[in-house]
Amino acid sequence: MEPANQFPHDFLWGAASAAYQIEGAPHADGKGPSIWDTFAKIPGKTKNGTNGDVAVDHYHRYHEDVALMGQLGLKAYRFSIAWSRIIPDGDGAVNEAGLQFYADLIADLKAHGVEPVVTLYHWDLPQALQDKYGGWESRKVVDAFAKYCRVVFERLGSAVKYWVTFNEQNVFTALGYRWASHPPNVKDIKRMYAANHVVNLANATAINLFHELVPGGKIGPSFGYGEVYPATSNPADVLAAVNANQFNNDWWMDVYCRGTYPVKIMRTLQSLNIAPEVTAADDQLLKSAHPDFIGLNYYHGGTVEAPTHHTPTTTKQLTNIDPYLMAGDAENGLSPEKLLFHSVENPDLEKTAFGWEIDPVGFRVAFRQLYEKYQLPILVTENGLGALDQLTEDHQVHDDYRIKYLQQHLLALKGALDDGVPVLGYCAWSFTDLLSWLNGYDKRYGFVYVDRNDTDAKDLARYPKDSYYWYQKVIASDGETL
Ligand code: NOJ
Repeated sequence: MEPANQFPHDFLWGAASAAYQIEGAPHADGKGPSIWDTFAKIPGKTKNGTNGDVAVDHYHRYHEDVALMGQLGLKAYRFSIAWSRIIPDGDGAVNEAGLQFYADLIADLKAHGVEPVVTLYHWDLPQALQDKYGGWESRKVVDAFAKYCRVVFERLGSAVKYWVTFNEQNVFTALGYRWASHPPNVKDIKRMYAANHVVNLANATAINLFHELVPGGKIGPSFGYGEVYPATSNPADVLAAVNANQFNNDWWMDVYCRGTYPVKIMRTLQSLNIAPEVTAADDQLLKSAHPDFIGLNYYHGGTVEAPTHHTPTTTKQLTNIDPYLMAGDAENGLSPEKLLFHSVENPDLEKTAFGWEIDPVGFRVAFRQLYEKYQLPILVTENGLGALDQLTEDHQVHDDYRIKYLQQHLLALKGALDDGVPVLGYCAWSFTDLLSWLNGYDKRYGFVYVDRNDTDAKDLARYPKDSYYWYQKVIASDGETL
């Protein structure tokens, strides 16, 4: 009989990162600026003005990082390409040095037995496209994205099997266009829905192009999914949870996988005059593109009650800018949530030091919901715990809390595999510590500690944490030691 926690032998045990969060070297070898290079310099926008100018200097230290991946026994590594390294002004001349950097990284990964998983867009739009066309609000950026994708598919497609189109479209559009807490620093919900629709067109265009140019490969979007629970069994709360799931999840997932927006949410947005315009040609394009897998980023979901059922004295209202659940009663002009649901605390869930719910059962729920709805294999492209780790004098990090978090989530994933859901792999967020977009460098996710406390942050020494050695054993045993 198979041992209880035995994972499939070809399971992709992985870890993940994103260009702006690790690379540094913003001007190296002809790279153009991205909207994050610009935004992080606006006073007051990031914690203590932190930015990715140095990050963990992966651009210059990738050999060392890949060697650590090899020693860990990673089977997959997800990273993103900085578009403005490849085409510095977004849609003009191709920068060979930028392409070479990623070709070298991929070759190094493969030499260490690590399968590359490449994200095309992890939030760092070339600044030039923002300046010239107005960024994702312009359909010209769909053409620019297609051009960039063609370049990287033609150059790197034969070496890379797994590709991710967009990372957490729900998060970057909401934080960028509704809450002005990410670039392009806009606070306008109608513009958010318009920009989001353009990103959908870019996603579909890229998937179709990929299938034409890289027939053996697999491509899909990475979505920040979290199941929304009803606060009680009161049917009005259950209806609110249906609304919230359609608003927070299906609004994107249905478009990716079926080419349609959920009708109820579309009607609500239309009634508020904030719905995107969908032409017949758009509709055709969205329906023509078929992802090969769903990339699942899972941190937490949410809990809601009916807006009419709202009892503010007994339930605590959540913040409006939670990246994974847009809370009800939002104060940003027109608020669809006011009509659909009201977010509340879940008394059954503990939270991380940063206030995110810890919900491994919700992870299993996510697999089941996504698979039965869309019938596509699932690759976990992110999951992990942000914490304030302590480096001991002898350079150790005893992150038993992270081990516990990862273990609980991997056991939930195993539950989903046993339920029959095809899960291709699991990329923990993150491999090394890295820049948290708004939380600077204190919030750490990595298996490998990066010491930024040396006097001028130039040393950036890497120290494997306890979780690194734990994951090493898990991978070597195909999950049996979990
Ligand atoms: C999702 C994003 O993709 C990633 O860039 C971010 O750092 C993590 N979540 C943690 O918030």
